[in-house]
Amino acid sequence: MLKDKNYAIKLCCISATVIAVITTIVLVTLAFTVFKRHDPDLVLYPTGLAKLQLDDFITQDTITSEMVMSIRNRNHGSFKFENTTSHITYDGELVGWVPIMADTIPEDALMNITAYATLRAKKLRENPKAINDIVSGSLNLTATATMRGKMSIMGIKKKGSVYTECHMTMYISEIPIRGDSWCWTKLEI
Ligand SMILES: *[C@@H]1O[C@H](CO)[C@@H](O)[C@H](O)[C@H]1NC(C)=O
Ligand SMILES: *[C@@H]1O[C@H](CO)[C@@H](O)[C@H](O)[C@H]1NC(C)=O
Ligand SMILES: *[C@@H]1O[C@H](CO)[C@@H](O)[C@H](O)[C@H]1NC(C)=O
Repeated sequence: MLKDKNYAIKLCCISATVIAVITTIVLVTLAFTVFKRHDPDLVLYPTGLAKLQLDDFITQDTITSEMVMSIRNRNHGSFKFENTTSHITYDGELVGWVPIMADTIPEDALMNITAYATLRAKKLRENPKAINDIVSGSLNLTATATMRGKMSIMGIKKKGSVYTECHMTMYISEIPIRGDSWCWTKLEI
């Protein structure tokens, strides 16, 4: 009778330990897979640049140009963000902006967002360094944005933000005008 009771306690302890170990393994696995944060991948396509001319940079006050932001959300959760304004700087000075409309990037998906950049060409030309760059045919601009919103993982919503920074080189003396860029992002939740 006593032996049976000891056996039962032992069995119970072993089961509890096994369950605890399995639970830990599952949680750790989830933490490293499902809940692991991935910074999104961002590629900028300056699709409207080809419609511009060098002359626009010399004569216009403001220039508006279409661009496509291709964002890949590699998280197991969708990201819903609010209206955002991306700021364009030249040599540390604010010379333009890009309004980005509120949207939701589905989990584990690539999404193209079309936006229109406004560049204050007149303001840009007030900088002698910029005039020099325009004359030599290439212009370096930086676009930064903080997209604030909510990440939703398996029904759980959490406030978060994605910081993006893109460095662009526009070859404005080429016909058509083209641009190169590289971006980095940081997801915070
Ligand atoms: C976001 O921007 C769009 C377009 O400008 C506007 O219609 C909408 O009301 C804005 N939403 C919020 C929450 O401000
Ligand atoms: C996103 O836009 C780029 C540039 O226009 C295009 O090359 C790409 O195929 C698009 N991707 C999707 C998924 O629509
Ligand atoms: C523009 O940026 C590119 C790449 O980051 C760099 O190689 C180049 O020297 C820069 N040009 C100017 C004029 O700052």
